[in-house]
Amino acid sequence: MTTQYKKFTKLIAKWPLDGTKGNRDLGKVIRDKVKEAFESSQSQNFDTELCSRQYNSLNRLADNYYKNKYKRCKTSTATGLSTEECNLILSNEVLAYLKEENKGFFKKLCWSVLKRQLSTETIQYKDHVPVMLNEVTKHLNPTDNELYIDMTFGAGGHSRHLLTSANCKLITLDRDPVAYEKAKELAKEFPNRVTPLLGKFSELPTLLKERNIRQASIDGILFDFGCSSMQLDNGERGFSVSKDGYLDMRMDAGRDPNQITAREVLATANEHELYKIFKVYGEEKKAAKIAQSIIEARYMIKNVETTRELVEIVDSCCPNEFRLDKLQRPQSNATKVFQALRIFVNNELNELNYGMVLSKYYLKLNGKLVTICFHSLEDTIVKRHIAGNIVNEVANPVPLRYLSPMLVQDQDTINQFLDTPWKAINKHVEVPSDEEVERNPRSRSARLRAAIKIK
Ligand SMILES: C[S@@+](CC[C@H](N)C(=O)[O-])C[C@H]1O[C@@H](n2cnc3c(N)ncnc32)[C@H](O)[C@@H]1O
Repeated sequence: MTTQYKKFTKLIAKWPLDGTKGNRDLGKVIRDKVKEAFESSQSQNFDTELCSRQYNSLNRLADNYYKNKYKRCKTSTATGLSTEECNLILSNEVLAYLKEENKGFFKKLCWSVLKRQLSTETIQYKDHVPVMLNEVTKHLNPTDNELYIDMTFGAGGHSRHLLTSANCKLITLDRDPVAYEKAKELAKEFPNRVTPLLGKFSELPTLLKERNIRQASIDGILFDFGCSSMQLDNGERGFSVSKDGYLDMRMDAGRDPNQITAREVLATANEHELYKIFKVYGEEKKAAKIAQSIIEARYMIKNVETTRELVEIVDSCCPNEFRLDKLQRPQSNATKVFQALRIFVNNELNELNYGMVLSKYYLKLNGKLVTICFHSLEDTIVKRHIAGNIVNEVANPVPLRYLSPMLVQDQDTINQFLDTPWKAINKHVEVPSDEEVERNPRSRSARLRAAIKIK
């Protein structure tokens, strides 16, 4: 038997089988894919170093190495098959194939697992699954005859839940025309209760004015920032690292003819600007190298135009790197670069800041605000608004303690800074339960904050 084979059977033996997960059981996927890969008689030239790295990550997962950092649920920790049982999975042909020491099988296996994972996820989350639904409803506490705004309608999961929880009224906002169409359908389902609006947070004052809705008239506001699954899963929108398509990334989908696309950003920004975008909005450690490669490609080959081309360029800057997400699942090296471009193209952080300012003006006294953020850039802005650490209506880029030692010692200045209209309902952010993350892996980074307007 080959070394690889021995390593491999040990890994399978450790990997838990969990019948409750159906096709989503990684243990089963790996077993099936191993069998499939071993049964193939094709020999290919694979990158063995990458194979070993992947093997090590899977092995760590199987060993529950990350147990202190990322909790696994009860059903994931049992030991599965014995080594003998694993041997039975493999046919004689497979063993003969392995004896030829074809080291490529492992990478093939990795890619099969990865592809299978991606496609499973896509099928499962084609429609956007609303995140932290119960927590949102608990904090907003919808009440009959009150008026709420869902600032990020998406597929309407949160909106629908609010409408069924009480006989309340709801204004829905989304900048994406696809979401707006869905909101109109919801409005038909709940006659005289839903007002669908198409626009950005920054367009809300005009939209509300047209409908005679005044400041201090709303009982609750919800923000569920980021992209919807409808945007991410549609390759043509250009948001997805795993689906090929032109790099568009405009949430408004051409509503504003002047809005720049991701493709145009990559074709026109200079190297330093690209570096800043990737570094600041993506917190990407290889930002400089990636920016340089994009410029080189632009001059020597062609503009980067599709999601696949961008993924390939990023991959070429990260040789031998195999990134994992928070759940220790394989993650594309380009995820952060995609996030950065999306934030830039849609001016997301300024919009978010503006949305927080608007909430202060449009909520009634004792009105409730609930926000769900998906990365620290978003959450920091929300946190600073709630804490009152804002300067000229903009979230302060630095925490108060770093401002100046003199300022920090001056209690009056601190009090002035912290004069906030908000009272936080939850002292610390709330995160989704293990069960929710398992059911909907896209919820894994969600951070919920809730506050009441007290002034
Ligand atoms: C995470 S999804 C919301 C999903 C929704 N809560 C649901 O249950 O289906 C975020 C949505 O917010 C929208 N969005 C993001 N930024 C926006 C902005 N500045 N103005 C209006 N809509 C925005 C996006 O188009 C997207 O549809």
